[in-house]
Amino acid sequence: MMNRPDAPATKRNRDPILKALKKELHGAKELLEIGSGTGQHAVYFAKHMPMIVWQTSDQKKNHDAIQSWIKSTNSANLKLPLNLEIGLNEDCIKKKYDDVFSSNTSHIMSFKNVEKMFSLVGRILRKNGKFFLYGPFRVNGDFTSKSNEKFNDELNQKDPIMGIRDIEKLDKFAIQNNLSNYAFLQMPANNFLSVWSKI
Ligand SMILES: C[S@@+](CC[C@H](N)C(=O)[O-])C[C@H]1O[C@@H](n2cnc3c(N)ncnc32)[C@H](O)[C@@H]1O
Repeated sequence: MMNRPDAPATKRNRDPILKALKKELHGAKELLEIGSGTGQHAVYFAKHMPMIVWQTSDQKKNHDAIQSWIKSTNSANLKLPLNLEIGLNEDCIKKKYDDVFSSNTSHIMSFKNVEKMFSLVGRILRKNGKFFLYGPFRVNGDFTSKSNEKFNDELNQKDPIMGIRDIEKLDKFAIQNNLSNYAFLQMPANNFLSVWSKI
């Protein structure tokens, strides 16, 4: 059997995320995932929501992992990764999507690229389409747990461009791109699923 890369956190957070996504995603839809990572979320969500065409994407370096996870399933609604690196080539996405999902990306890409991600999402989402962004966020100017604060220090030490973002600043990017605040859901382990809706 092929040794596929494993991101253990996806197994811990996938069911609470799936439950929230299922409440909002009805009918046949096309969804773009930004920063699919190993592809494990995509495989799981596509299997449990067969009506959604799930388009994976990430930087080229992650494509082998995503492809190997996709090949391990037979979900016809799961699409091979697009080469999408925000800040480098987001203009390549020309088509519109019903929804966009991204997990644990806003604290990894630079703040400037987070802004560009919102601009991309605002451009490609169809009216009333949702942008689901999962991860840790600062709320009211503060970390929501000591562990998130420590995680933020570790990120900063690894690379100063990384860091947990203030949800209020992301809301500003959303407003600038015709995305209105729709829901901010508390998830396990001090994470959130923030949802914006295209006006
Ligand atoms: C912490 S991983 C999260 C992966 C996966 N979404 C998950 O939750 O397990 C961050 C992901 O963001 C991607 N990423 C970082 N910078 C990016 C950028 N500028 N454009 C697109 N993806 C980016 C990385 O390649 C990586 O797959």
